[in-house]
Amino acid sequence: MSGDQLAHLEAGSGPAVVLLHGYPFDRSMWREQIDFLSAHGYRAIAHDLPGFGETVAQTSVSEPSGPSHKLKSVPLKEADRKIITMADMAHDVAALMDKLEIVHAAICGLSMGGYVAFEFVHLFPTRARALVLAGTRAPADNEQEKQARAQQAQQMLAKGMGDIADASLPKLLAARTLAEKPGVAGRVREMILRVDPRGAAAAQRGMAARRDYSGDLPGIRVPVLVIVGRQDPIRPVTDAEFIHRGLSDSRLEIIEDAAHMTNMEQPEIFNRALERFLV
Ligand code: MLT
Repeated sequence: MSGDQLAHLEAGSGPAVVLLHGYPFDRSMWREQIDFLSAHGYRAIAHDLPGFGETVAQTSVSEPSGPSHKLKSVPLKEADRKIITMADMAHDVAALMDKLEIVHAAICGLSMGGYVAFEFVHLFPTRARALVLAGTRAPADNEQEKQARAQQAQQMLAKGMGDIADASLPKLLAARTLAEKPGVAGRVREMILRVDPRGAAAAQRGMAARRDYSGDLPGIRVPVLVIVGRQDPIRPVTDAEFIHRGLSDSRLEIIEDAAHMTNMEQPEIFNRALERFLV
């Protein structure tokens, strides 16, 4: 995919920080980080990964016309087979950086965005100045996890995202976030509901097919900030500790009162950790 085809926003000037969203979200999850980084001397860039938000997945069959969500025209049989790999997404990050004339950047990914960050530093080691790996993990999926992804892909293609949004929210957000920050819960829910199921299903297959990144850890030569929510049941603290142990230059930030969406649940703490790390 060329950099022109990736819906993105950027703000600020200074060293570049590329923000990679999780699944099944879009670039709007980074609103607080874009505001913060651009106000603190950084050039912040967030794009919609292919199949999410306003970026149409180009590996799909697309409509001859129509501005977005061209995947909706893909017959179910074809949507059933489509896959967007983490490496595809990493190549897109490099294409966007080329378009924006960014030679190297700090790459910050949450969960699926973290898998893309692992692929990016593997494929383009000289273009990553630093990594931030939030709520993610190094090992690949086991067979049971792969099957669960296949089932979820079928479910979303058949029924849309409604049930998935309802079931996911209590895992994505800490109980306290749900009780005290209805605005955050509303934003997360809306992101899930507006995702095109065909793009999300293709990314699910891509995540199921991803490599085990554990063996990459000792070879990562840039500084890494590992962030995790204390209450994250999806990518728990043990996953973050595993990554931290495997790296030669990393620091670990555990954010209390947050589950999976640390950057939205506790933006001030997340941003301060970013600032301390990036200087
Ligand atoms: C995410 O938030 O990106 C997902 O939880 C990643 C995954 O399903 O492995």
